[in-house]
Amino acid sequence: MIKIPHKKVELFCGTGGVGKTTVATGRALHLASQGRKVLLITIDPAKRLKQILNLPDVDDGAVNTINLGMFDQDPKLSFDAMLMSPGATLKRIAAEKGLEEEFESNIIKTLSRPYGGMNEIMSIIEVQHQLERNVYDTIILDTPPGKHFIDFLESSEKIKNFFDHSFLEIFEYLGKSIHGKAKSKNIFTLMISTGVKKLLSYLEDVTGADFVREFIDAVLALYKSRESFLHALDFQAQLKEESFSNWFLVTSVEQQKINEAQGLKDQAENFIHNDLFLVINKCLTPYLDAWQPESNSPLSALKNTMVTREARLSEFASKNFRNVLKFHEINNPSPLEHVKGLALQFKA
Ligand SMILES: Nc1ncnc2c1ncn2[C@@H]1O[C@H](COP(=O)(O)OP(=O)(O)OP(=O)(O)O)[C@@H](O)[C@H]1O
Ligand SMILES: [Mg+2]
Repeated sequence: MIKIPHKKVELFCGTGGVGKTTVATGRALHLASQGRKVLLITIDPAKRLKQILNLPDVDDGAVNTINLGMFDQDPKLSFDAMLMSPGATLKRIAAEKGLEEEFESNIIKTLSRPYGGMNEIMSIIEVQHQLERNVYDTIILDTPPGKHFIDFLESSEKIKNFFDHSFLEIFEYLGKSIHGKAKSKNIFTLMISTGVKKLLSYLEDVTGADFVREFIDAVLALYKSRESFLHALDFQAQLKEESFSNWFLVTSVEQQKINEAQGLKDQAENFIHNDLFLVINKCLTPYLDAWQPESNSPLSALKNTMVTREARLSEFASKNFRNVLKFHEINNPSPLEHVKGLALQFKA
């Protein structure tokens, strides 16, 4: 096994169903068994981590302590696990800024639901907050599949654009003009050029002035908390430093999945350093090696085909990725056993 250095942050990403959540949990178990302080955060709204670790079915963003006794290991050791809750993170920000009332807006509440569109942005803010608490040696992030991982990486760009000064001036202007006090003319020109006014007047026709007012108030409330959002940009800058994060791109042992992983790597290029680990999960090699069908039988031909196929895929992966980790399929139906088996493979 290639040596994996200790870093502050570890990201697990990849396309759907390849084993991101399970491998990330195995990694948390491995690091915790070495006595490191670990926080595992799943930012995937599907929350399979909840089932694996038997966490309470509540969307409160609480930190749960997972005792290693659960995995038949030293019960004096543990790691922490959190299911990302955009609503809970937003509540914390509101409390910090004294904006609880403004954040009661229905629009903000809708945006901060698990599938409400702010999940990735809130996750970056939460990770930044956890880093600053300085409680953990390593924070492990289990990210949502494929494109959503790119959304996660891109979210600080979105934050930047959202809080772009002129954009907010327009909203401030519109807020004031709707509440009866118009301001200078040149902002008006800006407004036309962005088409925001057109959009709002259209919305006003369709939904009535109350909705537009509520919309503008929601934007202004977010604007008042902009420091918390803009602060999250620091995390983005750090992701480009190799010394800050280990990046694991998980795939399974199929050509199509490896190609998809390559596609994700290319898309992530502008946001994160390129010293990643490709994790080929669910390899069958140990089983194939141990399998001895009668020579010249159909089963022996099948074995040869499978061995050749895995060897070709490994070769392809090694040519295209600098660090390749191969994790084998765990022959057991229990997800808890998968986590235990993967933790052992991190140790090997
Ligand atoms: N090495 C392995 N051996 C056997 N089963 C595994 C292995 N790794 C993961 N699994 C199983 O594969 C299934 C999918 O794993 P998991 O939920 O971790 O994937 P994921 O990539 O997080 O999925 P999603 O894209 O839905 O978030 C689970 O049932 C898990 O227990
Ligand atoms: Mg998952």
